[in-house]
Amino acid sequence: MPTLLITGANRGIGLEFTRQYAASGWDIIACCRAPQEAEALRAIGGRVSVEKLDVTDYAAVDALAAKLGSRPIDLLINNAGIYGTRNPALSIGDPGEYLRVLQVNAVAPMKVTLSLLPNLKAAKTAKIATLSSRMGSIGLGAGGSYVYRTSKAAINAAMHNLALDLQSSGITCILLHPGWVKTDMGGQGADITTQQSVTGLKAVIDGASLSDTGKFFNYDGSEFPW
Ligand SMILES: NC(=O)c1ccc[n+]([C@@H]2O[C@H](COP(=O)([O-])OP(=O)(O)OC[C@H]3O[C@@H](n4cnc5c(N)ncnc54)[C@H](OP(=O)(O)O)[C@@H]3O)[C@@H](O)[C@H]2O)c1
Repeated sequence: MPTLLITGANRGIGLEFTRQYAASGWDIIACCRAPQEAEALRAIGGRVSVEKLDVTDYAAVDALAAKLGSRPIDLLINNAGIYGTRNPALSIGDPGEYLRVLQVNAVAPMKVTLSLLPNLKAAKTAKIATLSSRMGSIGLGAGGSYVYRTSKAAINAAMHNLALDLQSSGITCILLHPGWVKTDMGGQGADITTQQSVTGLKAVIDGASLSDTGKFFNYDGSEFPW
């Protein structure tokens, strides 16, 4: 069976991705910061192995890649993310916190992806799917939320260019908006459940081919402007 490696697998959208790919019989390397506290993740069973990974611990990212050796990874889902402090209007809050959000949402997914590139290249037709947000679209900008918006705009730009660089390797690299989802981040007033979001996202990922590389998709399969 194909192998999925996913970050932030212990709750929210990441947990539901792990459930749905496990139900499809995939081998899953499910990464989270605190495996000992990840009861819901460990309860999935199936072919899920849980790995401890803080995506901003770059030495740990390299150690995980070394541990995987030449094992092929068919699908990498960069899911881990944070919103950061909700700042008042016309404020970025603490500039140090701004950098922390950039580290988690923009720097870490690139570091994880590039460290695992040999494993992705070892798979026949690998895919990289990165959880962005429509809030990272400059074209759809609505003002405010500068910190989160710029972190997602940054990963959009980086992944779009990586997609171009990897096209000749046959690796499909796409960005995804999951909808406004009922999670700790989205809040309970959000539009859709994790099941609805991930059912849509999984169909987008499973249906994506090299002709889609570098594109930014909504969970319903429609495309977003940058
Ligand atoms: N929910 C929405 O409406 C929405 C909308 C647009 C985009 N998104 C994006 O979708 C993705 C998942 O969001 P969600 O709603 O599921 O969020 P969530 O419920 O807040 O879960 C976030 C996940 O990311 C993990 N994480 C945070 N920092 C990490 C780090 N440094 N290293 C490893 N894991 C880390 C968390 O682990 P811990 O439990 O250890 O903190 C948790 O597993 C994010 O990238 C988010 O920006 C969500």
